[in-house]
Amino acid sequence: MNPKATLKLSSKSIFMHIEQLINMHKLAELALLVVLLTALGIISPAHAAAAVRMQLSRRTDAGSGLTGRELLQRMALGSLARAAQIFSASPASAPVVPGQRADDDPYTLYLARLAIGTPPQPVLLVLDTGSDLTWTQCLPCPACFAQGLPYFNLSLSSTFAARSCGSPECQSLPVPSCGTKKWWGNNTCVYTYSYGDNSVTTGLLALDTVMFAGDAGRTAAVPGVAFGCGVFNNGLFRYNMTGIAGFGRGALSLPSQLKVDNFSYCFTAMAASTPSPVLLGLPANLYSGAGGAAVQTTPIIQNPTIPTLYYLSMKGITVGSTRLPVPESAFALRNNGTDGGTIIDSGTSILLLPDQVYQVLRDAFVAQVKLPAASVANTTDAGPLCFTVSPQAKPDVPRLVLHFDGATMDLRRENYLFDLEDAGASYTCVAVMASELNMTIIGNFQQQNMHVLYDLANNKLSFVPAQCDKV
Ligand SMILES: *[C@@H]1O[C@H](CO)[C@@H](O)[C@H](O)[C@H]1NC(C)=O
Ligand SMILES: *[C@@H]1O[C@H](CO)[C@@H](O)[C@H](O)[C@H]1NC(C)=O
Ligand SMILES: *[C@@H]1O[C@H](CO)[C@@H](O)[C@H](O)[C@H]1NC(C)=O
Ligand SMILES: *[C@@H]1O[C@H](CO)[C@@H](O)[C@H](O)[C@H]1NC(C)=O
Ligand SMILES: *[C@@H]1O[C@H](CO)[C@@H](O)[C@H](O)[C@H]1NC(C)=O
Ligand SMILES: *[C@@H]1O[C@H](CO)[C@@H](O)[C@H](O)[C@H]1NC(C)=O
Repeated sequence: MNPKATLKLSSKSIFMHIEQLINMHKLAELALLVVLLTALGIISPAHAAAAVRMQLSRRTDAGSGLTGRELLQRMALGSLARAAQIFSASPASAPVVPGQRADDDPYTLYLARLAIGTPPQPVLLVLDTGSDLTWTQCLPCPACFAQGLPYFNLSLSSTFAARSCGSPECQSLPVPSCGTKKWWGNNTCVYTYSYGDNSVTTGLLALDTVMFAGDAGRTAAVPGVAFGCGVFNNGLFRYNMTGIAGFGRGALSLPSQLKVDNFSYCFTAMAASTPSPVLLGLPANLYSGAGGAAVQTTPIIQNPTIPTLYYLSMKGITVGSTRLPVPESAFALRNNGTDGGTIIDSGTSILLLPDQVYQVLRDAFVAQVKLPAASVANTTDAGPLCFTVSPQAKPDVPRLVLHFDGATMDLRRENYLFDLEDAGASYTCVAVMASELNMTIIGNFQQQNMHVLYDLANNKLSFVPAQCDKV
């Protein structure tokens, strides 16, 4: 993190809020929404009932409450948006450049600038490897959040085509429903995605041409891409986003629909004002300019129970000089893929660890940091761990290294520490928190200035430190 990118806080209660963010108990609200949409005659009763059953059964199977991949994603996204709201001194005013985040908080989302329709209408979508469906807000928008860009107007697009309830795309949805004639025309596919933090999006599943911006002003137009035309969107969506770009492993994600063998991104540092490149279908010599740093490669593990997510084989964590006394099984999938595991996610901000692992990591930082014991700030057990420091100080904090099967992620300072100011006091905080999900999530804070390649054809993830504004 840029030393000048100090954050202003209105209240230390952020620590409490952050803990609450990781709670995920909103499934009932999806069921209620579907019932409400049915009552309003927006979707047909038979399909709605089926949808509710399906969703609830997945929830029940999990025991811990973590099953539906879409719910997991929503939780992660929600935590970002919520935290950003709390952190941000001037909500909703941060400028956003293409493919980049809002400017003044450590809980960041990276936005991709695309265009949909003929002629193309611009959209700004959160790049999210933790979900599949791509959606943007759509007129008539009876319930949309405010956005900087005009809402997508399907009437203006000559290539827009709603999908039918029986289409394969509709069947790929986690919660498909059939729209009623009154609202959507006959037999149209309606999607509903819920968010762990209360956020939801519902709308028409459709096909249209999606235009990707390329280098040097070139564009690539891909016809017939399935996406959600979201008309009921409510919750903690923020920034200049107009929706989400799903980069997961499922059939509806953009990489799946574009049939690319690989994609990569390189997130510029939060303090930078330059765009972050996202590349699809890459040259084989991608890393030739890596400048000597060793490219690290580790297997991507597929989990049939939650096929959307990119699981990694994580082995352990080193803090300073200590390999944490945590068994490898703490990072592994359990219960036939319904529980545990380690994922890499562009839609989550900071590193989340299972609670027991987090407590061990926290103790290791406190034991090894070269600061007086009294400098440990009174935050919640869930974190983040913060130290009171003198203004502008850069205390000597132990290094943080993540170990994977065949790869090591030796995090630079900007990838795990951030600075805060609150009520006249200065803090240095470790960008790691406990997750009640019992799962490890490598967030985008850890991935700043790292070129990350998802080799889908060979199930491998590669990463190398990079200057992302030069990629
Ligand atoms: C971002 O939002 C601000 C205010 O909310 C607006 O002035 C600005 O034009 C928006 N930018 C884009 C690219 O939508
Ligand atoms: C959407 O486009 C149609 C067709 O041009 C137009 O009649 C309508 O006014 C537009 N809606 C809005 C809200 O701009
Ligand atoms: C609406 O769709 C149903 C089957 O999905 C069909 O039987 C009916 O004829 C359609 N009505 C119109 C007006 O297209
Ligand atoms: C990415 O995929 C393309 C084929 O789609 C292949 O030619 C290329 O070598 C791959 N690049 C990397 C870096 O794996
Ligand atoms: C494990 O999960 C897979 C995929 O979801 C399923 O097909 C299989 O039946 C499950 N096995 C057990 C023992 O639950
Ligand atoms: C630390 O926080 C807890 C719970 O918020 C509170 O009960 C306790 O008094 C605080 N301790 C100090 C030293 O502020």
